[in-house]
Amino acid sequence: MNRREFLGFAGKGIFTVSAAGLMQGCGEVVRSDFPEAQQEDGRGSALSRDFLDMLYLASLAPSGHNAQPWTIRIKKAQHWILGSKPERWLPAVDPNNREVLLSLGAFLENLAVASQAKGYHLEYGIIAINPENTDICEINVVKAPPQEADIEAIKKRRTLRLRFMNREIKGDDLRYLTAGISGTSYFPPSSSGARYLSTGTFEANRQQTLRKAAQEELANWIRWSDRDAKRYRNGLTTAGLELEGFPAWVARYFYNRKTVLTDDFKRRTLALVRDEVNSGGGWITLSCPNGEISSLIEAGRIFERLFLRARSRGIAIHPMSQMLEEDPWRNEVAGNLGVGQSVQLILRVGYRNPYPDPVSLRMPVAWFTEVH
Ligand SMILES: Cc1cc2nc3c(=O)[nH]c(=O)nc-3n(C[C@H](O)[C@H](O)[C@H](O)COP(=O)(O)O)c2cc1C
Repeated sequence: MNRREFLGFAGKGIFTVSAAGLMQGCGEVVRSDFPEAQQEDGRGSALSRDFLDMLYLASLAPSGHNAQPWTIRIKKAQHWILGSKPERWLPAVDPNNREVLLSLGAFLENLAVASQAKGYHLEYGIIAINPENTDICEINVVKAPPQEADIEAIKKRRTLRLRFMNREIKGDDLRYLTAGISGTSYFPPSSSGARYLSTGTFEANRQQTLRKAAQEELANWIRWSDRDAKRYRNGLTTAGLELEGFPAWVARYFYNRKTVLTDDFKRRTLALVRDEVNSGGGWITLSCPNGEISSLIEAGRIFERLFLRARSRGIAIHPMSQMLEEDPWRNEVAGNLGVGQSVQLILRVGYRNPYPDPVSLRMPVAWFTEVH
């Protein structure tokens, strides 16, 4: 939704009073409202400061609908189980937990980088037999000499969706993004691959808005009110969706689950998606050899590695997963793009300036950590 359209939507007969006056003192809830020190509470405090820091940094990973599906079970001080929680799965759009595993992979990558900085390294192995298992990966946190690691990149990474420049990604920047990473392909804006991804992403979005279960699931994960944002500390907030000013204020105070299910909301969402897919610097796909648990975890790690590099080159990343969630596209993408292996992530990319700081919320470490 662009600003004008959103205003049109937001302004539908709701307001007769001065919005500017009402808005005073009503800042939206963003990540910086929860200083890192507050990550330590409840069960989490049984962990050392280093481990709390590492787990907090790991949790800054991206996840579908910002559901933050990860759990950590501390079996012994340095022996952990990484898993996921069914309440934070997305069965309507991710019935096989493919995206859950990618998100867990991104979490693991952040954890690996943070561990290096703190003087540990991770030894891990997959223990899950199928993606619905809640225990996925066993981790040993082993003492090692501290190494330089880019913690700022973890703290500054964020998803962006709007205001991408319509400029191809420079070869040098692309090489930097993908150095040492296999399975990526870049489709510049004028390529037939980009046209296929733009059209397909729009059509898959359209189909998804018509699937009641998918739209209801989205509605459940949008935290319109400040109260819900503070209460859950996960899901999508108005700030995370880059709504600003008056429209954001209207949404926070007057929208709810039901709004997302209206035809008007769906129509306006699709208008926004059309603008998005027709702008930016092209697309990057990330593929992996197969859909096995270990491949998906590794793909998630690679995705995060690429994501962590993007900001230093001013490149915004917008994962757009609908073609991988909807039939027939999900079985056709790899073949139609000629990328061989199974595609796991479709990323719209583009230069963005200025590049805003992250705002999406995170649950405190104690909420996803159990000490046994
Ligand atoms: C596997 C996966 C799929 C995602 N798919 C989408 C998507 O289809 N559309 C979208 O806008 N964002 C998508 N995202 C981005 C998340 O919404 C985002 O990571 C989350 O809201 C947290 O925000 P942050 O990345 O700024 O921390 C996806 C992220 C992951 C890890």
